Amino acid sequence: MGRKRKPRFETQVAITGIAEKGRGVGRSAEGGVIFVENVAPGDIVDVVITKKKSDYMHGTPVKFHHYSEDRVEPFCAHYEICGGCQWQHITYEAQLLHKENIVRNAMQRIAKTEIGEFFPILPAPDTRYYRNKLEFAFSNRRWLTTEQLADKSLPLLDDVLGFHKAGGFDKIINIDHCWLEPEPSNAIRNGLREIGIRQGLSFYDPRAYKGFLRQVMIRVSSIGETLVLMSFGEDDPEKRKNYLDEALERFPQITTLIYCVNTKVNDFILDLPMETYAGKGFIEEQIGHVRFRIGPKSFFQTNSRQGERLYSIAAGFAGLDGSQNVYDLYTGVGSIALYLARDCRRVTGIEEIAAAIEDARENARLNQIDNCDFYAGDVKDILTEEFAEKHGKPDVVVTDPPRAGMHPDVVRLFLRLEAPKIVYVSCNPATQARDLHLLDEKYRVEKLQPVDMFPHTQHIEAVALLVKR
Ligand SMILES: C[S@@+](CC[C@H](N)C(=O)[O-])C[C@H]1O[C@@H](n2cnc3c(N)ncnc32)[C@H](O)[C@@H]1O
Repeated sequence: MGRKRKPRFETQVAITGIAEKGRGVGRSAEGGVIFVENVAPGDIVDVVITKKKSDYMHGTPVKFHHYSEDRVEPFCAHYEICGGCQWQHITYEAQLLHKENIVRNAMQRIAKTEIGEFFPILPAPDTRYYRNKLEFAFSNRRWLTTEQLADKSLPLLDDVLGFHKAGGFDKIINIDHCWLEPEPSNAIRNGLREIGIRQGLSFYDPRAYKGFLRQVMIRVSSIGETLVLMSFGEDDPEKRKNYLDEALERFPQITTLIYCVNTKVNDFILDLPMETYAGKGFIEEQIGHVRFRIGPKSFFQTNSRQGERLYSIAAGFAGLDGSQNVYDLYTGVGSIALYLARDCRRVTGIEEIAAAIEDARENARLNQIDNCDFYAGDVKDILTEEFAEKHGKPDVVVTDPPRAGMHPDVVRLFLRLEAPKIVYVSCNPATQARDLHLLDEKYRVEKLQPVDMFPHTQHIEAVALLVKR
């Protein structure tokens, strides 16, 4: 039998920042980076090292010498294990400061370019109930903490509906109340669980890959509409009808009920056919002067109120006077394109999800906007020099790529297209900074505005205005 290694400790570690997953950042006596669980910037702690890599370590605190002034009591009962709002234990003001610093650091370390005006981060107008969409998973086994496991009165096997524990495909935490999405979200989720139990339906077994009730997405809109998308793990029309009918009867707030049948081993449902069981099959949302139709497969900003402010910053940076030809890349359901349409000559939107492009065209009709064209496909394939010849060279390019940022071919094309202005909206400062670095030879960053769309999480949005040198 091998001998157990002695645990390694680091003492008096000052936590100076906060990183992904809410971990604090400190340094060992030799200067190595340590990511520490359950601490806040400003804490001074002794740490036991739980993982050691060549360039960083992970640790958990064993003794606190000083508690940070920025600490607050988390308000959610699920905070410790859910992993959804990892920054709830620090004040909102401190969260904002750390987010702004993350953007600043990314610009210094990766973009390595001068920023004309770096504006202070824009706080979210609501720090609770700010999301318009949440997804929950059904499971036949409840995830329990060590303390809950010690409580023998709690059942190990239990039908639950909630979130995946961070990093666990088969670990589902039952959620009673989530502070992220306004009502009727909590009522519907809890009701759907109750109906499933009462009707004796099987909750999904993530290890055996079977079970009837699998996932649910609940989307609410500020104009009072609610979309529920159920994913069933088995195709049983009778059981499905009974379940959906009872859900509709119990929750008249559901304006549209959609379902799909997912018998695959993975949870991805965007490639599956969607059936509208009740209502119009989409939800409507108002952002500023534009009304949007959002289908079950389309991306839409999950914080509508802050989304409107984000678009208004993008519009301000674009500085339109009615004469410009604008491209809106990664357009989703045409959101930014339609928001800008009244202030420019023409807008061309490109998005890879064909269903979102259908929504974008429908959204243009709905809002009587007739100066927009939308194309479905990968930006790197659709946006070529020939495309720009055909649609006219852009005066302003708005780009809002996913977390991975832009494909290098797209960046190279930007350098050839030489649009006078680029407005770069990003949900990942690291990839935005990488792309700004690549564009640096022809573009200077005139303005940069970080925006907090997701309080209590590490996510940050930032809008950059690039002007041709
Ligand atoms: C961050 S969202 C932005 C959506 C939109 N601008 C908005 O504000 O709602 C990124 C969008 O890019 C789309 N997308 C991802 N990769 C793409 C690609 N290679 N080509 C085109 N669209 C892509 C996604 O489907 C998603 O709708």
